[in-house]
Amino acid sequence: MALWKLGSHFSSVILLLLLQLWAHCCSHGAVGDPNIHVESVSVRVNGMQSIATVDESFICGTIDWWPPQKCDYGSCSWGNTSILNLDLMNPILQNAVTELSPLMIRLGGTLQDRVIYDVGNLQSSCGPLIPGSGLFGYTDGCLSMSRWQALNEFFQKTGSVVAFGLNALNGRRRTGSTYSGAWDSSNAQEFIQYTYKQNYPIRAWELGNELSIPGVGGSISSPQYAADVNKLRAIVDETYKTSPVKPLIVAPDGRFDASWYQQLLQVSGPKALDVCTRHIYNLGPGVDENLVSKILNPFYLDKEAGYFKLVQQTLQRYGPWADAWVGEAGGAFNSGRDLVSNAFAFSFWYVDQLGMAAQFNNKVYCRQTLIGGNYGLLDTTSFHPNPDYYR
Ligand SMILES: *[C@@H]1O[C@H](CO)[C@@H](O)[C@H](O)[C@H]1NC(C)=O
Repeated sequence: MALWKLGSHFSSVILLLLLQLWAHCCSHGAVGDPNIHVESVSVRVNGMQSIATVDESFICGTIDWWPPQKCDYGSCSWGNTSILNLDLMNPILQNAVTELSPLMIRLGGTLQDRVIYDVGNLQSSCGPLIPGSGLFGYTDGCLSMSRWQALNEFFQKTGSVVAFGLNALNGRRRTGSTYSGAWDSSNAQEFIQYTYKQNYPIRAWELGNELSIPGVGGSISSPQYAADVNKLRAIVDETYKTSPVKPLIVAPDGRFDASWYQQLLQVSGPKALDVCTRHIYNLGPGVDENLVSKILNPFYLDKEAGYFKLVQQTLQRYGPWADAWVGEAGGAFNSGRDLVSNAFAFSFWYVDQLGMAAQFNNKVYCRQTLIGGNYGLLDTTSFHPNPDYYR
């Protein structure tokens, strides 16, 4: 789909142009400066030329695993928005997601690497993620197949497209900030096979969350990660061998590090990865009281363009077979900031990001979150749209 044909997202493109214009004309005056020089300009949009092509599901939102007990800086912003407890029958939620159809929904986040799937010969009981002494401060959680069915009914009813982030830590040992050992893919393999047999459509199987350098709780070496990507590729190819449409293989959903990503692509080899993802939290922690001034500063926002360019160059040189996606972007980490990342001001960040992502040839952009935390497109408790939903 060409950028100028984005339909409901057309307003984003116009807004992007206005933002850029604003950056050129007015950014020498401080925001809110009464002496700012204002002049009339006319904008001409050439609808015959597109600068980039994005996927039909360019707009993507995430649903995370965080349980209600997840709090940051004393604020508990997740409520019942976890993959495990979100009220999927809520009509406001269903309508909001249907309106954005085909919205891609990425299921994942930090705790995806603590989740097992209740399928096959699972030895342990299937319980929720609860705060505890384990990695990332939680116990292992479990996705039951009745919940997986309810989720898939929701996706089909709302016409959404699914990207599922698999647990990539099974079978590994952590020493300091390194995870060693190969990925134990047995539970994931049974889950993928079960999903295939149930005819649940999956657009993308993603491997791991923020386990590249620098990871959240540690990182995996890129040659090891490449071997694990090849293992996932083999599982998916085998499972879907008679299927006309195969899910995409997506990784590593980490913070971008040029040499780590380069090695992942080179070692996994041609066509192992369909999509190379990265996460964006360029505004710093949600606790920062100066978030708004960063969001309204075009020079600050533009710094991210350097990374977009680097990703593009890395893929061109070392993985021309793979598309780039922004796999998760919440701007401000640790759940965003109430009254900022869920308010109108945040649109200056979001719209600018969507424009940059498209311009640098990213096919999908997953906003953290569709719902949950302080950065949802939808409100955590009322499920009503926040301003960014309308971008
Ligand atoms: C989440 O759901 C549980 C069970 O329905 C309920 O007791 C609790 O109050 C809800 N929490 C929030 C924050 O809405």
